[in-house]
Amino acid sequence: MSLEKSAFAVRENAYAPYSNFKVGAAVLSEGGTVYAGCNVENIAYPEGTCAEAGAIAAMVAAGETKLTEVFVVADSKQPVSPCGGCRQKLAEFGDKDTVVTLANLDGVRLTMTMAELLPGAFGSDHMDADHQDRD
Ligand code: THU
Repeated sequence: MSLEKSAFAVRENAYAPYSNFKVGAAVLSEGGTVYAGCNVENIAYPEGTCAEAGAIAAMVAAGETKLTEVFVVADSKQPVSPCGGCRQKLAEFGDKDTVVTLANLDGVRLTMTMAELLPGAFGSDHMDADHQDRD
């Protein structure tokens, strides 16, 4: 199934009884496989997980750690905007040029790169500084 179709299909399975906001995400791995995830909420609200986290977990569980494309969809007025935490999670496994498409159910699409999705991302370069030995 295509990246887009997978995201739309998995969204149907979202468990979102508290927000009633179903989200579907799909990532294309370097190996060419599509992995999908949906949000899974919990009565203990902070324990809920986002769709993007589910898709990433499926990819990593299958033994892959590089994604080359991302698609996220929800029933929002504007294409759904991934939360800050999910932007960082996606950045972990993509690179600055990874294409990210955000969508809603009305056919509105917003396509951008990972660098545009998360400008100024925290990365390993921030930990390589000479400042590490200061204390
Ligand atoms: N949510 C996602 O799964 N991904 C996003 O990109 C935005 C928000 C979920 C979390 C929660 O289950 C619901 O949407 C409302 O915030």
